[in-house]
Amino acid sequence: MNRGDFPRLDGIHYLDSACMSLRPRQVIDKVEEYYTEYPSCPGRSNYSMAERATEELESARESVAELVGTAPENIVLNSGTTEGINTVARGFDFEDVVVSDREHNSNLLPWQERGAEITAIPTDDGFDFSRLKSEVSEGDMVSVVHTSNLDGYTLPVGEIVEAAHDRGARVLVDAAQSVPHQPVDVEDIGADFVAFSGHKMLGPSGTGVLYVDPEVQEELGALNTGGGAVEDAGFETSEPKDFPHRMEAGLPNIAGLVGLGRAAEYISDIGMGRIHSHEQELSQRLRDGIGDIGSVSEVGREAPGVFSLAVDGVDPHQVSLMLDQRDIAVRSGMHCLHSWFHSRSQDPTVRASLHLYNNENDIDALTQALNQIAVLG
Ligand SMILES: Cc1ncc(COP(=O)(O)O)c(C=O)c1O
Repeated sequence: MNRGDFPRLDGIHYLDSACMSLRPRQVIDKVEEYYTEYPSCPGRSNYSMAERATEELESARESVAELVGTAPENIVLNSGTTEGINTVARGFDFEDVVVSDREHNSNLLPWQERGAEITAIPTDDGFDFSRLKSEVSEGDMVSVVHTSNLDGYTLPVGEIVEAAHDRGARVLVDAAQSVPHQPVDVEDIGADFVAFSGHKMLGPSGTGVLYVDPEVQEELGALNTGGGAVEDAGFETSEPKDFPHRMEAGLPNIAGLVGLGRAAEYISDIGMGRIHSHEQELSQRLRDGIGDIGSVSEVGREAPGVFSLAVDGVDPHQVSLMLDQRDIAVRSGMHCLHSWFHSRSQDPTVRASLHLYNNENDIDALTQALNQIAVLG
């Protein structure tokens, strides 16, 4: 799908999009446009080049907001999912934290850092709602991944939000792996906070988004404060700007964020439903191909988009290097999901993850290579 737009697809089967997606020419051009046409400070000066920078940045906010079904006033632009979760963990009051048992380190360490008591809800046989209901109480934070970066399993976040809200808890959804691959409407989900990353949705690296429900915006403190976040300031006190600008102190990654806006438009134009179906079809092809190789197995649940694989008797890092020799890029290791692997005494895996630009040729190249590697085990 749209392969001609992606210059770096030449000569490679890129299957590491869960870590970082490739960028289409349109996004790269947008980044360059900032540096060549309006390389100035947004939100600060009134000469026309700076006005253009302000307009482009705010227009990026609008494009991202539209992609996820909300108003731009609810969108904080930042550096990624990790920053979004840290912002909530440090800037919001909560009691205990309830997570799922398949969380990325970025949805565990910020809560650990705050000294919160953390309970993990089992997901191996589907999300355990009875455990959730018995663990969550008033004032808690429920912070769950939407789509897992282990295996692509998508948690029923709408129902999780409902159950958590019924018990007086707040909810954060880590949507790093869902927003780039399927329709996500943050207001339909109903979560208080939704964090995601630009660099997984065809945007520049070091860009991200934190959606904050208007009901909790007043209660959320900023991770940083300083220039750009205030209307006025003296030696002792200051008057913050309105949300979301009071959350965005310091000069942002302007080129990256305008590129992110372009990426949001790019994937909206293709259609998230279409992207999701395309990845589902390729996933089925890969699953069928792997199913025919006796000594290659899937680790985790069977879902579209992300495959954690074990090759009997072959070290996953060696598998990754052997795939690299065949121009296939995958990741090996624990994929920042150490708690999941350790709790199951699971060895590291090889992870292949898809995006809209992958095609049958990529899938067949991987299947064929795994067939050859499997005989070494
Ligand atoms: C599910 C999930 N959450 C959080 C993150 C962290 O995202 P970032 O490094 O973009 O902040 C990732 C990145 O792989 C992820 O897959």
